[in-house]
Amino acid sequence: MISIKEIDQGEFELCYRLDSDTICLWTKNQWQNEFNKKGIKVVAIFLRKKIIGIYVLQVILDEAQINYFSIKQKFRRKGYGSYLMNYLIKECENLNIKKLLLEVSETNSIAKSFYCRFDFLTVGRRKNYYRDGTDAVLKEKKFIK
Ligand SMILES: CC(C)(COP(=O)(O)OP(=O)(O)OC[C@H]1O[C@@H](n2cnc3c(N)ncnc32)[C@H](O)[C@@H]1OP(=O)(O)O)[C@@H](O)C(=O)NCCC(=O)NCCS
Repeated sequence: MISIKEIDQGEFELCYRLDSDTICLWTKNQWQNEFNKKGIKVVAIFLRKKIIGIYVLQVILDEAQINYFSIKQKFRRKGYGSYLMNYLIKECENLNIKKLLLEVSETNSIAKSFYCRFDFLTVGRRKNYYRDGTDAVLKEKKFIK
């Protein structure tokens, strides 16, 4: 059984653990701090009551940014990422978001093709953005009423 729900700061260790098993983006402290940022929503997808994926969305007025999006390795390519992204997009529509932004490594071709399916367009680039010196590609999805 699949379910999706917002989680709170009390569950930051679960987020840290999932991240450590997937893309290792943030430390435990960074996860804890993420929950304190303004406009943050951390949402998890559960399969039989176990977290298999998370996104972190930051909403600022009528714009939103995806700060984190990941599905556990062994559950990838089964449609769960799309299921979670469709939920995120619906949530943005409900909040009257006009623009949804994200950054993705130029070398992450899987994520780039994933975002392409959801009509994210490349709008910029940040040079040497990641620790390994790779560039970040800035992507944007516009919501048209
Ligand atoms: C990107 C990610 C979230 C996709 O999640 P997922 O559950 O595997 O995605 P889905 O099964 O819904 O796949 C949807 C589409 O994404 C693309 N895709 C997903 N995995 C792919 C792969 N291994 N190779 C090529 N395309 C892929 C395909 O277009 C796929 O559609 P298809 O299966 O009909 O071809 C997942 O790979 C992930 O967590 N990656 C690591 C974290 C990450 O890179 N996050 C983004 C950082 S900004």
